[in-house]
Amino acid sequence: MEFDIKSNIPFIEERINHLEKITNKDFPYSRIVFSKEFYEGRSWLKDQFNSLGLSISTDAAGNLIGLLKSNKKTDKLVIIGSHIDTVPSGGRYDGIAGVVSALCVINYIKKNDINLPFNLAVYDYLGEELNDWGTSCIGSRGIAGVLNDEILSRQNSAGQILKEEINKIGGNSELLNKPLPVVQNILACLELHIEQGKILEERKIDIGVVRSIPSISRFSVIVKGQAGHSGTILMNQRADALVTASQIISFVNKSALKLSQKSNQHFVATIGKLNVHPNSAAIIPGLVEMTIDLRATNENSRQEFLNILKKQLSLLEVSSSCNIDIKDIAFAPFVEMNKELINLFKNSANSLGLSNNIMDSGAGHDTAQLSRVVKAGMIFIPCKDGLSHCPEEYAEIYDISKGTAVLCKMVENLAIQSSN
Ligand code: HGY
Ligand code: MN
Ligand code: MN
Repeated sequence: MEFDIKSNIPFIEERINHLEKITNKDFPYSRIVFSKEFYEGRSWLKDQFNSLGLSISTDAAGNLIGLLKSNKKTDKLVIIGSHIDTVPSGGRYDGIAGVVSALCVINYIKKNDINLPFNLAVYDYLGEELNDWGTSCIGSRGIAGVLNDEILSRQNSAGQILKEEINKIGGNSELLNKPLPVVQNILACLELHIEQGKILEERKIDIGVVRSIPSISRFSVIVKGQAGHSGTILMNQRADALVTASQIISFVNKSALKLSQKSNQHFVATIGKLNVHPNSAAIIPGLVEMTIDLRATNENSRQEFLNILKKQLSLLEVSSSCNIDIKDIAFAPFVEMNKELINLFKNSANSLGLSNNIMDSGAGHDTAQLSRVVKAGMIFIPCKDGLSHCPEEYAEIYDISKGTAVLCKMVENLAIQSSN
């Protein structure tokens, strides 16, 4: 029996609507990792797992798992996962659509009494979004064994140590120095996600089959000048940290724009976080802290950008009499999705009569971390005006249900494959 796209809309809609209410009331929609709202979201998800008769566990990396065991004795596992944590004032669909569609797949399999030759799990990957500890994809990095001691020992602005937060939520940071043992049993990791771009909507395509996920590099830049009285220090006697920071910001923007125009590559750089100290109108800013977020599908362009940036920072240090310190705080390499899964996703969408195209992701995803150790693939569904990481983020439930139909077809195809 086929997954019926229309009749599954209420199942998906009800869960999306419920989760969106579990938010920090002052900044909808915010469910920051390890926050009170995040814990509330997790207990809701545990209830969902319970009502679907799944066995519930948390792995060493803090990922919440709902497992549907095959009635064949096997350790083989297919995972359908995404994340329920959000960015501050983020969206109702980024990550959430993927977890809810995974619940819908399980519901379909149970309702139709489909017995799979492998175990099937829903994963809520812990902390996919960039967090206070300067990293992202906590849970999926943990599965891949790339959460090193330096990252795990980081303290956030409230003095909380990352590994202690992972342990508090049920993880075990002692086991995170290598890939988790489950990796050897995983046949495939699948993820459905909103595109967070405009291609599918503009070209009226139902499904995007993801070919690659760009590298993500993040750098902290600290500009140290000299605070002083805004009324008395003459203009040519200042070491104004904010003026220097503004020159860095426009340099980053101009250089990234130039590199982005090079053909067939994705290259974007953003400075979205900036703190000015002491941040008072009558004081010349003495210190500025900011973060550069860089995404690239071409490693040479990334290196080229970093070389010209470092040269520019040394020139600025001389001309501005400020001290500029740049530090690498996070990196995830450019990855290509598993080619077999790309073809299987395409065939699944085609067999359902859903239009589809192969495309590169602009955003980072847990699937990027997982593809470092297992076969991983993902599909996109359209989102309105390509907006994401903002309250205006919107996706049609009908489109999520179409993507869910593709996931169901994928599970069936993987079952046929693994029984051959
Ligand atoms: O930052 C990203 O690309 C993702 O939304 N975490
Ligand atoms: Mn996401
Ligand atoms: Mn996101």
